[in-house]
Amino acid sequence: MKKLLTLALLAAAIEMSAVSITSPDGNLLLNVDVDPQGTPVYSLEYKGKPVITTSKLGLKSKETDFTGGFSIVATDTTTVDRSWQPVWGEYSTVRDHFRELAVDLKADNPDRAMTIRFRLFDDGLGFRYELPVQSGPNYLTLTDEITEFKYTGDHTLFCIPGDYDTDEYLWSETTFSGLEDALKGYHRHSEAQRVDGLTIQTPMLIKTTDGVYVNQHEAALDGYPAMLLDVDPQSYTMKSHPVPDRLGVRAYLQMPFNTPWRTLIVSDDARDILASQLVLNLNEPCKIEDTSWIKPMKFMGVWWEMFTGNQKTWAYSDYNLAKPGVTDYTKLTPNGRHPANTANVKRYIDFAAKHGIDGVLVEGWNEGWEDWASFRKNRQFLFDKPYPDFDLPALRDYAKEKGVKLIMHHETAANAADYELQLDRAFRFMKDNNYDAVKTGYVGAIIPRSEHHTSQWMVDHARHVIERAAEYQIMVDSHEAPRPTGLCRTYPNWLAQESARGGEFESMGGNPPSHTCILPFTRLKGGPMDYTPGLFETKMSYYGEGKDSQAGTTLARQLALYMTMPSPLQMACDLPENYERFPDAFQFIKDVPVDWSDSRYLEAEPNRYITVARKDKNSDDWYVGAITDDKPRVAEIDLGFLPEGEYEATIYEDAPDAHWKDNPQAYRIRTVKVHPGQKLSQKLAPGGGAAIQIKKIR
Ligand code: NOJ
Ligand code: CA
Repeated sequence: MKKLLTLALLAAAIEMSAVSITSPDGNLLLNVDVDPQGTPVYSLEYKGKPVITTSKLGLKSKETDFTGGFSIVATDTTTVDRSWQPVWGEYSTVRDHFRELAVDLKADNPDRAMTIRFRLFDDGLGFRYELPVQSGPNYLTLTDEITEFKYTGDHTLFCIPGDYDTDEYLWSETTFSGLEDALKGYHRHSEAQRVDGLTIQTPMLIKTTDGVYVNQHEAALDGYPAMLLDVDPQSYTMKSHPVPDRLGVRAYLQMPFNTPWRTLIVSDDARDILASQLVLNLNEPCKIEDTSWIKPMKFMGVWWEMFTGNQKTWAYSDYNLAKPGVTDYTKLTPNGRHPANTANVKRYIDFAAKHGIDGVLVEGWNEGWEDWASFRKNRQFLFDKPYPDFDLPALRDYAKEKGVKLIMHHETAANAADYELQLDRAFRFMKDNNYDAVKTGYVGAIIPRSEHHTSQWMVDHARHVIERAAEYQIMVDSHEAPRPTGLCRTYPNWLAQESARGGEFESMGGNPPSHTCILPFTRLKGGPMDYTPGLFETKMSYYGEGKDSQAGTTLARQLALYMTMPSPLQMACDLPENYERFPDAFQFIKDVPVDWSDSRYLEAEPNRYITVARKDKNSDDWYVGAITDDKPRVAEIDLGFLPEGEYEATIYEDAPDAHWKDNPQAYRIRTVKVHPGQKLSQKLAPGGGAAIQIKKIR
């Protein structure tokens, strides 16, 4: 009897332990509890309707599980309202306003303690697991994370397939019930580690059957693998799938440890998803004290030549080290198709200097590319050994004299362990030669420790590179690194990342116009992308192989991307000779800023269209970018954001007969007087766009 009573009291205590908080504006309601097995659970409502129904929380390890037997021993609720100033970005000030709920959990036999910290913002939820020092094991071999996201219906999903090594895919627009078929349609990269089953990547976007948008991702990914999502289409449930190493271990953890935040950005207005700063808000403040050396910039590159024409190569010679008998690396003979040569780089420096472009990236400048085709990794890239036709001292002096910065390239071919060994020498070499920005790359799936591109070891590697770079005052643009999760707030020298299918795919079959209408809703929520806009010649031949490729864009749309794909590091990707053919349109690329003090999302629908206005951080000028998918559209641009005054707008637009496929280079430029509150109806061609510069004249 006594035992029954105790049990009843305990049950009552557990029931009483359920706790709820609302977002500051009251639109979101979060409930947290433990179920009868002592498993922590949560649910989320938006404007009175469920978004996530009761979903489990917890971590599993070889040593002990943090999934059941828990009771809530304490809760703590606070409200925080503060602001911070990013070094660069879409806004000069970001408000960080949330209600926080910390739920302390304890379990017996064995003793375990865990806190789950929730932050509920007006625009969504973040939560993470915090493991304090335990009375039991303090080193965990994490085997799984059981975090669930149970949705409420057969919603629309915008996603790419789960993969441990790459995210360079086109996006599917499907539903829970259509996911299996959608994933079957993917052509998978041969070297990447495909994940069987219905697994997708984050960031991803959901549009619920009642028209609520949810971006699902993570924030502050550090010391832990990236998250994929296993989808059960019958129950509309997603479960976290931390990327394992080749032994199946998800992570090696030492207490105390906090996981990254799991994030849900929620709104019934698609524009709010684009404007949300939730992922950045959940990251730690800037760790770099003096940030004066971090400079947003535009750059060109000895780069596109290799993608588009006449068999140009990154390598200096045609040796293919995969061929038997090729062993003497000192006998490399030039192939004559190597654009990273002194004369050609000077040509780019001259062009950049003439047009006020800040930097010139040079790829294929260093020894090691002969091994590229073989992937045998028997000879590594050397990051302080220029090829004989790349006269670094001369180019260093020439660039300096012309006021242009050379941008370094470190392609590691995924040999990240070797890169770590060379890192200090490589960064010192950069500084000695007046470089202060580097593009890194990790092409290929083979990593010496047999890990994956997004498993714990590579997440640690990326953080290590950024921290070391900051010590040398070096800015970084990483390609093929783990998807960004807002760490650029903490390390603003991390100017941009690729981590999605970029503009380079225009030369490999093309990106459909919808591609850049979904990336801002998904990939960009983690941080800026080095998408490489500015493509004026939209027909090309891939690697000069004679295969034609047609870009999914008009010329005017390429200008709009500078606003719709915001980044403090923007490329003008095309060849100088293509810009010389369209000097009036190139003027926009010369003028457009890369750092903003304010941004207003005027119109948005995922995969369909985006219209955004942004204010230059260093002047009173505003810029508007509007893009559409493959259908024509009239963007309604409400100039209500302009302060009092008279303005002149220079409009770069698709000509009336423009079309991404048949007539991509048909554009017009016109200048009109505009005033605050005016509404512009701006026509966009199929696959087109418009870019508008608005200057105050009175
Ligand atoms: C892939 C990168 O995305 C691309 O930009 C680069 O040129 C090549 N790797 C070579 O490193
Ligand atoms: Ca890439």
